[in-house]
Amino acid sequence: MSPSSASANAPNERLLRALRRQPVDCTPVWIMRQAGRYLPEYRAVRARAGDFVTLCKTPELACEVTLQPLRRFALDAAILFSDILTIPDAMGLGLSVHEGVGPRFRKPLRTRRDFETLPPLEAATDLAYVMQAIRLIRRELDGNDSVPLIGFSGSPWTLAAYMVEGGGSKDFRRAKGLLHEQPQRAHRLLEKITAAVIGYLSAQIEAGVQAVMVFDTWGGMLCTADYDEFSLRYLNLAVAALKAEPATRAIPIILFTKGGGNWLERIADSGCDAVGLDWTIPLDQARRRIGDRVALQGNLDPMLLYAGDEKIERETRRILQQAGNGGGHIFNLGHGILPDTDPARVANLVDAVHRLSREMKASRAKPASI
Ligand code: CP3
Repeated sequence: MSPSSASANAPNERLLRALRRQPVDCTPVWIMRQAGRYLPEYRAVRARAGDFVTLCKTPELACEVTLQPLRRFALDAAILFSDILTIPDAMGLGLSVHEGVGPRFRKPLRTRRDFETLPPLEAATDLAYVMQAIRLIRRELDGNDSVPLIGFSGSPWTLAAYMVEGGGSKDFRRAKGLLHEQPQRAHRLLEKITAAVIGYLSAQIEAGVQAVMVFDTWGGMLCTADYDEFSLRYLNLAVAALKAEPATRAIPIILFTKGGGNWLERIADSGCDAVGLDWTIPLDQARRRIGDRVALQGNLDPMLLYAGDEKIERETRRILQQAGNGGGHIFNLGHGILPDTDPARVANLVDAVHRLSREMKASRAKPASI
């Protein structure tokens, strides 16, 4: 059945079709951090939970905030509400997230002993609250026009960076320092985290997520040789492991290295299904370099949501044109939406992506039918 002839009751398959580079009626769109502080209803639920970490650990509330943006906007996917730092928290580092402070670990990795005694992750049990949230969300989404649920993890390097640093940082001096001062220790840590990431994503897939995204938020702060050795290498291992297992191989994988524009070809070579792009790389350039082997996701600068609707629409059109006619594009921001964004702008953006991409498809189809 072609997507345009799908009945109104059919599940919304645009995202999964675009990830497989199959034809779609219009370009699917979702927004990184689509559930979050820019929504008053999110802030209300977070207040009810008491704090962000408790919100993540309460499956009913995590389910509720996952669904909130879908009630407001015609999004083509839900993304699990959680955080990449649940893995280190489950390994005993003790996560807290407070407004104005950002994420912090009570017990960051400092001594040799800290590294050596870091326990392996048993995702299904150690992060049972995440799996429970996924099952609740899938049950809630199981209706007409239901959208797929995206699961996620941080990349091994990005998680290691937070675990060594103890929280966010301007330059991740400690974490980058470790790579050069103690490369063996860094590799042992990254191996351990890679196993955790593979187990975590497998457990999420088992619980019901229909696509997964790996956030390599801090890959772009490495030089090329270090990116290859300490980030990409472990992304490759994670993708290979998921693609080798019958239970996980059919689930599309999106890899996103923020600031990874220099390495797109090799990111695409990992065997992932889609590459996420930040706003620095025009989609047509990415497509020329990567070819058709993967889908592309992105890449409106989140700052543009502060512009007027006309400008947002102009930039949206530009991105859709750059994506071209070949399909395999998922519209998104180039990074997470900012907390003081006006939700009305998001509504207009989502509608513009659908309307403009539909129009562009129709006008491209015309000459062929004359
Ligand atoms: O996209 C979604 O809506 C799903 C939920 C999601 C969150 N964090 C919720 C969140 C996802 C996918 C993440 C991923 C995440 N977390 C990343 C990778 C993506 C990226 O942005 O590059 C990173 C680096 C983190 C670590 C982290 N957690 C940061 C940097 C912050 C923000 C700190 C701050 O104070 O600005 C968090 C906390 C966090 N994660 C919030 C949300 C909605 C805000 C916490 C709050 O409600 O106070």
